[in-house]
Amino acid sequence: MSPILVAKNISKTYDEGKIRTQVLTGLDLTVNPGERIAIVGTSGSGKSTLLHILGGLDTPTEGEVWLHGKCLNTMNETQRGEMRNEHLGFVYQFHHLLAEFTAVENVAMPLLMRPKVTTTDARQQAMELLEKVGLGHRLDHRPGELSGGERQRVAIARALVTKPSVILADEPTGNLDYDNAQSIFGLLTELQTTLDTALLMVTHDRNLAALADRQLLIRNGHWEQY
Ligand SMILES: Nc1ncnc2c1ncn2[C@@H]1O[C@H](COP(=O)(O)OP(=O)(O)OP(=O)(O)O)[C@@H](O)[C@H]1O
Ligand SMILES: [Mg+2]
Repeated sequence: MSPILVAKNISKTYDEGKIRTQVLTGLDLTVNPGERIAIVGTSGSGKSTLLHILGGLDTPTEGEVWLHGKCLNTMNETQRGEMRNEHLGFVYQFHHLLAEFTAVENVAMPLLMRPKVTTTDARQQAMELLEKVGLGHRLDHRPGELSGGERQRVAIARALVTKPSVILADEPTGNLDYDNAQSIFGLLTELQTTLDTALLMVTHDRNLAALADRQLLIRNGHWEQY
């Protein structure tokens, strides 16, 4: 079984004028198909930075990220964008849905970026997934007309509509109350199991982290014993 995502010796340093911030130092990570990994660490420890690098949204100062056997670092932005669209799904603490579009339109969007997908097909798949996340009755609502938990369900449907091999989730439940957080996490893992998608989730919630297959703690830029 070949891993889906491999990060080798990742370091990240920010240089701004005379100020140098070393955020990550020599991190390795291997994500296998269908695996569920929780990343924890204090605020500012570099969790979001790492997810951005793994998702090809940011570049490491040193090291390499391999997605499906291809090195992201040697690609141009267009190629990286295609890799993201094909293999990755992103969920954030704040939903990042487009305010002027309906739930169906938001969820269909990643599919519409693919050259061969028709609008009818994209809408159909978006509707099916919205049904699965319990929002079949809110298809034409805009984000502003949905509750916080509902918006996060739409965001999850959007992340999964392309059937990615990995979901990168940055505190997907961080903005929700306890019950909603539990239910969103349940939904995420249920869909993940159905689609055989790996999940890499940053969370502050140790109870949720405990439900993952592996827990990784980031401190001083590298992994420490959880
Ligand atoms: N563009 C930047 N320039 C300089 N420093 C930055 C930049 N972006 C992030 N940092 C620093 O990198 C460190 C890690 O930030 P990051 O957002 O990855 O932390 P985090 O673990 O996700 O924290 P939180 O739990 O609060 O979301 C922080 O100390 C931050 O100040
Ligand atoms: Mg963060």
